[in-house]
Amino acid sequence: MASNDTITVTDNRTNRSVTIPIEDGTVRAMDFRKLRTDEEDFGLMLYDPAFMNTAACRSNITFIDGDRGILEYRGYPIEDLAENCTFLEVAYLILFGKLPNTAELKQWVYEITHHTMLHESMKKFMEGFRHDAHPMSMLISTVAALSSVYPDAVDVHDADNRLLQIKRLIAKMPSIAAMSYRHSLGFPYVYPDNELSYTENFMNMLWRMVEPKYAANPLLARALEVLFILHLDHEQNCGTSTARVVGSSLASPYLAVASAASALSGPLHGGANEEVIRMLDGIDSLADVPAFIDHVKAGKRKLMGFGHRVYKNYDPRASLIKKIAEQVFGVTGHNPKLDIALELERIALSDDYFISRKLYPNVDFYSGMIYQAIGFKPEMFTVLFAIPRTVGWLAQWQEMICDNEQKIARPRQIYTGGRKLKVVPIAERDKAASK
Ligand code: CMC
Repeated sequence: MASNDTITVTDNRTNRSVTIPIEDGTVRAMDFRKLRTDEEDFGLMLYDPAFMNTAACRSNITFIDGDRGILEYRGYPIEDLAENCTFLEVAYLILFGKLPNTAELKQWVYEITHHTMLHESMKKFMEGFRHDAHPMSMLISTVAALSSVYPDAVDVHDADNRLLQIKRLIAKMPSIAAMSYRHSLGFPYVYPDNELSYTENFMNMLWRMVEPKYAANPLLARALEVLFILHLDHEQNCGTSTARVVGSSLASPYLAVASAASALSGPLHGGANEEVIRMLDGIDSLADVPAFIDHVKAGKRKLMGFGHRVYKNYDPRASLIKKIAEQVFGVTGHNPKLDIALELERIALSDDYFISRKLYPNVDFYSGMIYQAIGFKPEMFTVLFAIPRTVGWLAQWQEMICDNEQKIARPRQIYTGGRKLKVVPIAERDKAASK
């Protein structure tokens, strides 16, 4: 650290100054506590609703440069990984920090493949849901229920134990997701096929009917695999921060992942992909697009799949997904929704409302159209996000557990309520209410 890498803050209430080190472009919030009006004073806090400008951890997993539209996993550009790797290869990279060699990859694939089965009690658990339960609710609840199947998972300081739970979760997510899908259709569950790849086996568990062996269309299986790679991790987003916060209490990783998936389910986060399709369904023709955009600009609704807290330039995942869409539609036939989406994008990107706010398509804008073309119903879209993101949640959870600087997450507040009130007897409260 250079000697002038500091900031001097003068507290005008007391005229006292403190000099605070600047490290990695940040200052430590705890250093501001030194600014106090007197001995009784708690000290200065930083107010940052929605964590707009707060770094909560050090991480070497994912790098994002939001202004330049750059995304890297462990230093590798997302474009390179999407083009040249399999999903489990990139999962290995995210978890272990290096790309595997042939022997390591073979062993890793073997281990994930051999953890795909679910305890039969989970099948009964799933049967308890109504036929029209949302697949995301079923996924979240079943992942949470796995904490009862693996109670030993709470031994989070044991590295071998952690790795076992990580393998189990990555392996079982597609099985749970497929089960939720089959449950909603009233179809019998399909058991995993160990001879298939991660995505092919997922497709097998979703769609195999009476044929003895499921054969996935290779282009569609690869498209799904690339989509999974693009969704693997995205540093400290809402879901991942939730995994870290819940995990920081040393709760079971199954509960940390279920909590992260709950955060993901919201329409401002992973749930946006489902909302994009519903939005496109509501626009009948290209001629209706300008009126829709006017609606958005008037603040009557949001252009779902647009905007991002970090990307203030094109989301690199959206560029890659747009290319996959063209390949998939080459197999499945043209999706007229794509024309509406392209027109929305064309008008939005030339309109000052969107330009001035730096609103570009995000990962969710085109992904739903591909999922739909592959054969998924919209309710499954966020589940498809949760499967690969489980790897990121677990890598970040593990990083947090092993970080000596981390403790139980516990923000502060600015209290705005009353103080030292006296309980009025209920009869008197009733009298006051009836006046
Ligand atoms: N449509 C119309 N206006 C928007 C949109 C949008 N999609 N997104 C942001 N704005 C406006 C917003 O109204 C605000 O305008 P003003 O300054 O006049 O008040 C300005 O742009 C800044 O937006 P913000 O809400 O302060 O930005 P944020 O960083 O808090 O929110 C976001 C980011 C992703 C929640 C938001 O852009 C959004 O709601 N987008 C639509 C939902 C969506 O696509 N979510 C998926 C995000 S990417 C994948 C993931 O995270 O899972």
